[in-house]
Amino acid sequence: MATERTLSIIKPDAVKKNVIGQIFAMYEAAGLRIAATRKTFLTKAQAQAFYAVHAERPFYNSLVEFMTSGPVVVSVLEGADAIKKNREVMGATNPAQAAEGTIRKKFADSIEANAVHGSDAPETAAVEVAFFFPASEIY
Ligand code: CMP
Repeated sequence: MATERTLSIIKPDAVKKNVIGQIFAMYEAAGLRIAATRKTFLTKAQAQAFYAVHAERPFYNSLVEFMTSGPVVVSVLEGADAIKKNREVMGATNPAQAAEGTIRKKFADSIEANAVHGSDAPETAAVEVAFFFPASEIY
């Protein structure tokens, strides 16, 4: 299994619930290391650019509004098979379908306010990590 890096965003709903530490603990329990992290407040332009792939979706404007409704925590997670492992720890996009013990089952409110984001493939992970972190800030 290759060592990979993936981007995590703890979204405004989960930051408001004060569960950043609990979510970090779930990453670590799954064998993922926090290689970089920062609390930030996305601008509208940043949220639009980050989710540009969804620009034609009916939920795009609402998603951008939600992602700019409060601070987020962006992190680079590193470990063996990190992209897949993180997606397992997060659970399904829709919390109604998320498995027991996953972050979204525990903390998500809806398909939009779903607590966390995680990269879905090696190509997107590389782009998403570079969106927030220069190589000199990842250890
Ligand atoms: P995320 O994994 O960050 O990727 C895109 C996001 O869009 C997703 O999590 C949700 O926050 C949001 N999203 C996906 N599908 C829908 C939907 N049907 N309605 C509203 N928001 C959605």
